[in-house]
Amino acid sequence: MNTELTFVTPRMSFRRPASPLDTRRQGDFGYLQPGEIYLDAACQSLRPQPVIDALTDYYTTYNACGGRVKYAWGVKVDEQVSDTRRAVLTLLGLSPRSYATSFTLNTTYGLNLLLQQLPMGRVGRIVTSHIEHNSVFLPTMTAARRLGVERLVLDRATDGALLYEPAQLEKAVVVVNSASNIDGRQLTNLAELVHDTHARGGIVVVDAAQSMGHGRALLQETEADAICFSAHKMYSASLGVVVARHDLLAALDLSFVGGGMVADVREEDFDLVHGDPASVLEPGLQAWGEIIALGRAIEWLGSIRPGGLAPAEHLTRLSRRLYDGLADIPGLTLVNTEASPVISAYAPAQDSHRLAVFLSHSQIMARSGYFCAHHYLKEQLGLPPLLRFSLGLHSTESDIDAATQTLGRLVKGLH
Ligand SMILES: Cc1ncc(COP(=O)(O)O)c(C=O)c1O
Repeated sequence: MNTELTFVTPRMSFRRPASPLDTRRQGDFGYLQPGEIYLDAACQSLRPQPVIDALTDYYTTYNACGGRVKYAWGVKVDEQVSDTRRAVLTLLGLSPRSYATSFTLNTTYGLNLLLQQLPMGRVGRIVTSHIEHNSVFLPTMTAARRLGVERLVLDRATDGALLYEPAQLEKAVVVVNSASNIDGRQLTNLAELVHDTHARGGIVVVDAAQSMGHGRALLQETEADAICFSAHKMYSASLGVVVARHDLLAALDLSFVGGGMVADVREEDFDLVHGDPASVLEPGLQAWGEIIALGRAIEWLGSIRPGGLAPAEHLTRLSRRLYDGLADIPGLTLVNTEASPVISAYAPAQDSHRLAVFLSHSQIMARSGYFCAHHYLKEQLGLPPLLRFSLGLHSTESDIDAATQTLGRLVKGLH
C-alpha cells in the first residue's frame, strides 16, 4: 500500500481552463481534459482508447471464463488469451519452446509467486541490489528467511550495471530490476549477468516493471529465467505478467494452488494439467478481459508513431526536454545523472509533498515521496522525500514546459 497517496488533498481544482501551453489531444488519449498534465506514467500508464475499447468489448459482448467453457464466447476468450500469451513472448523475442507466459495481479505478485515457491535445498543465496523497488526488496528478504540462505545486497553503477564478483553468483537466485523507477537507470550488464549466473548454477529473475512500456530492447537480448512486469505500466489494464522458463516453473514447490491448474484430484493428491506450464502460476479464474486488453496494447505499441517517430525515439526527445527543463531550475537537485522517461529531484529548501500538492493545483500530476524505494533513497542516500515526473506516450512538449515552468515558480517561492 502506498501511504504517499495520503498527501493528495481534496483541494485539487479539476477542469481548469486550458492554458496557452495546452496541446489539443485527440485520438488515443482524447479523453484527457484540457489542462490535465499526467506525469505519473511510471506508476500507471494512461490507457489508449483501443485498449479501453478491447476491455469494454470483452465485458459487453463475450464475457465468458477461459480454459473451461465450450460455448462460443468461451472459445473466443481462449483464442484471444492464447494470442496474448504468444504476443508477450514475441515482444520479448523468446521462444514458446522454452518460455511460458502466466498472468497474475501485478509485478509484486509475480515476484512473490516465484520467490515464495522456490524449492528448499537448491538455492545457495539470494542476490539483489540496493536500488530496488520494495516489490523486490521485501520478497527477497522473506524468501531468504524461508529458505535459510544468505541475502546479498549489491551496488549498482551509475549506468545501472549490477556490480558483482562471479563467485557471489554460485547457485544464486538473482532478483534485480531492468530499469529503476527512481531515475530510469537500466541493468546494462543483464546479458553478462545471466551468462555468469547460469555458469554457476543460478537463475536470474528480472523485475521489468519499468522496461515493458519502453526499453524492452535490453530484455530481448537475454535469456533470463523469469521476467515479471505489470501490464498497467505498459498502456494496458491492471494485470501482472510472469514470463518464465519451463524448467523453472517445473521446479517450483507449489503452495499457491487451486482450480484451473489440475487435471485430476484425489483425497490426498492431485495431478497438474499436463503440457501447460503457465498454469502453475494461475490458480483460480483469471482476469480474462485484462489479458485480452494486453494483447490489444501490444498491437497498439507496435503500430503507433507519435509525432511521426518510433515510440522510443519520441520518448527520448521528451525525456531530454524534461531533464533540461528541470536541470535549469535554480534550487532543484536532480537525482538522475542523465535524461530518462522517469526523473526524480528535490529542492532542499522545500518539502516535496507540498510542491506536489501545489503542482496538482495547476492540474500537474507528479509524485512525491520515496516511490517504494525507501531503503535506497532514505536509508542509504539519506535523501528527503523526492518529486518524480514520469512520461508516457500521451505526454507532450507542452506538458513538460508547463510542468517545469510551474515548478520553477514554486521552487522560487512564487505561488
Ligand atoms: C521497478 C518497479 N518494480 C516493481 C514495481 C511494482 O509494480 P506493481 O505495483 O504493479 O506490482 C514497480 C511499481 O512502480 C516498479 O516501478
